[in-house]
Amino acid sequence: MPDLPIDSALISDLEQVDRIVLERVRTRSVVIGVAGRHVLAAGGKRIRAILALLSAQIGQYDLDRVIHAAAAVELIHAASLVHDDLIDEAERRRGVPAVHRRWDGDVALMVGDYLFALAAAEMALAPDPRIIGYFSQGVMTICEGELAPVTVVTPLEDALDQYFYKIGCKTAALFEAACKAGAVCGGLAQAAVDALGRFGYDLGIAFQIIDDVLDYTGLPEQLGKPAANDLRAGTITLPLIYAVDAGGGSDLAAAIDAAGDETRITAAVAEVVARGGTARAIATAYEYHDRALEHLAPFAAQPAARTLVGLAQFVVTRGV
Ligand code: IPE
Ligand code: IPE
Ligand code: MG
Ligand code: MG
Repeated sequence: MPDLPIDSALISDLEQVDRIVLERVRTRSVVIGVAGRHVLAAGGKRIRAILALLSAQIGQYDLDRVIHAAAAVELIHAASLVHDDLIDEAERRRGVPAVHRRWDGDVALMVGDYLFALAAAEMALAPDPRIIGYFSQGVMTICEGELAPVTVVTPLEDALDQYFYKIGCKTAALFEAACKAGAVCGGLAQAAVDALGRFGYDLGIAFQIIDDVLDYTGLPEQLGKPAANDLRAGTITLPLIYAVDAGGGSDLAAAIDAAGDETRITAAVAEVVARGGTARAIATAYEYHDRALEHLAPFAAQPAARTLVGLAQFVVTRGV
């Protein structure tokens, strides 16, 4: 995994965001404190916090004004991961056992809830009430997305409609909110806030497509989470949809029903890649990357916009 393309000043600001996040998770409940730190301290790319900080830098940057929004978005993200792993029955996260595996499902539910509440407390410290609105909407949308089904791989149009609706909700909405919250903290006009939101949304789509590609092509030690987890769980994502469209229908449909049969899962992963499913998904991620960059055009003169361009490049090239 390449390092994130950010400079040492931004890294130092991110470390301050991390300090807040870790401080907040001290509680009288030992298990919530330990399990919360287990997920927060285990790493993570902090992309959403970076988006908030860089969006603020497009305007008047003051770390004290944006730090709570940046902390809030990483807390929301961590909460959603703890709950996501429970839903996806995932074994590992950020290189360590998922909370529901290390403890149990009840702990994962409560730790996730606790982190969401910490995020709410953090938003209340942010300088503008719009931030609470953006993040609340983001959380509501994540919940809708996590439960939105992708039930078909064909016809292509229906499968794509379901897939893009789901990833727009579960991933792109929080990228959008991170950018808008940061932009508000930077004092930008509403039109600029909305443009950065659109940048974040399209980048979030590209990000989730690449995550779905890496589920097929990445190595678990590189991902910090299991590979082939989506297929194993019968989850339909873009590489599979494209592979079926390329003519791999019946074999792959059988593989989706073969949850638990590791030999068939390995064969199906190879089949999806061989039929160009991952390559075509990467091409689609690039389309969203390009679209995202168009929203940055008005800010091209700003150094932070150039860093956002580099971050967008990272999103489509990471690990693939
Ligand atoms: C994982 O997000 C969940 C998705 C939206 C695909 P990240 O890949 O940003 O996870 P961390 O924060 O780096 O662990
Ligand atoms: C993203 O979807 C989950 C959230 C946005 C909460 P995935 O299920 O693909 O994420 P990973 O692969 O578990 O990180
Ligand atoms: Mg998952
Ligand atoms: Mg995934």
